[in-house]
Amino acid sequence: MIALGIETSCDETGVALYCDSGLLGHRLYSQADMHALYGGVVPELASRDHVRRLLPLLRELLASSGIGPGDIGGVAYTAGPGLLGALLVGAAFGRSLAWAWGLPAVAVHHLEGHLLAPMLEPDPPAYPFLALLVSGGHTMLVEVLALGRYRVLGDTLDDAAGEAFDKTAKLLGLGYPGGPALARLAEQGQSGRFRFPRPMTDRPGLELSFSGLKTAALQTWKSLPGSAQDRADVARAFEEAVVDTLSVKCSRALALSGLQRLVVAGGVGANLRLRQRLVALAAEAGIAVHYPRPELCTDNAAMIAYAGWCRLRAGAADGLAIIARARWPLEAIGGPQPAP
Ligand code: KG4
Ligand code: ZN
Repeated sequence: MIALGIETSCDETGVALYCDSGLLGHRLYSQADMHALYGGVVPELASRDHVRRLLPLLRELLASSGIGPGDIGGVAYTAGPGLLGALLVGAAFGRSLAWAWGLPAVAVHHLEGHLLAPMLEPDPPAYPFLALLVSGGHTMLVEVLALGRYRVLGDTLDDAAGEAFDKTAKLLGLGYPGGPALARLAEQGQSGRFRFPRPMTDRPGLELSFSGLKTAALQTWKSLPGSAQDRADVARAFEEAVVDTLSVKCSRALALSGLQRLVVAGGVGANLRLRQRLVALAAEAGIAVHYPRPELCTDNAAMIAYAGWCRLRAGAADGLAIIARARWPLEAIGGPQPAP
């Protein structure tokens, strides 16, 4: 069975095809250059651009994979959480295609896509596993028990890790989206010149908080003459603080849950220093660590096609409603539901 996946929850338009033997292909169009002009995502512009991009992207994917509508067994679209207007574009597109082609459609939770992205790799983790989900909108430690069964062990009280990367990058004048730019700059930074707090590591529990860290970076940056080296050193200190904090919380969650596998998912999972740290941590703890390749850490439709394929294969279908939810708690998803 081939599932078509559609992703439009934020500023990336994605389409993908997943079949029983793996990923057939995926296409991604990033709107980043357009939003960069405004210093962040402009929701209305995002929605309009998804409208423009979806059909050409899908045509290109079908042509390059040699797949026609008759080969496809179901459509999976990201139904939330995300920007409502942007979600509605993909949901209306996906649900309508499924109707026109006489296929079932399933609404996929964006974070389920991220959590299951390592399943697209050659050595996928077995359930259950601990996932560190670090994206632009979320920072969570999740116990992944099975498809649709997720238990949130820890969450951020304020900013998400990616959001903190982006805001700190912005205050350092690095533009948008700043996470990858800040990470590149940190490479030139001197370790140890500044030390920022490791929020909430001094007390028990798995909650996280990143807004104070951004403020610490701002105050330090403002107190400096502002040379290129100053900027790189602040970036380095910020990245080290985020990586340290996430690594402390991960080892705590592994100890508390007794889970033997760790998955790192979401856009910040593309961060090299974080990857290296968690690989070291896993080696010390004698557990396996799994990452999607960087291209599948950030938003993409391959992960949506995979999650949808799992659900469709289990007989799930969502009826004719076009489903879009700006907010959608991860623990509320549940397993695959048969057609109503
Ligand atoms: O998962 P994602 O593509 O979108 C959301 O669902 O939020 O994550 C995007 C986030 C952005 O905040 C971006 O700055 C961050 O991931 N990011 C990074 C890196 N690559 C992307 N942050 C730090 N280092 C990176 N290499
Ligand atoms: Zn995402």
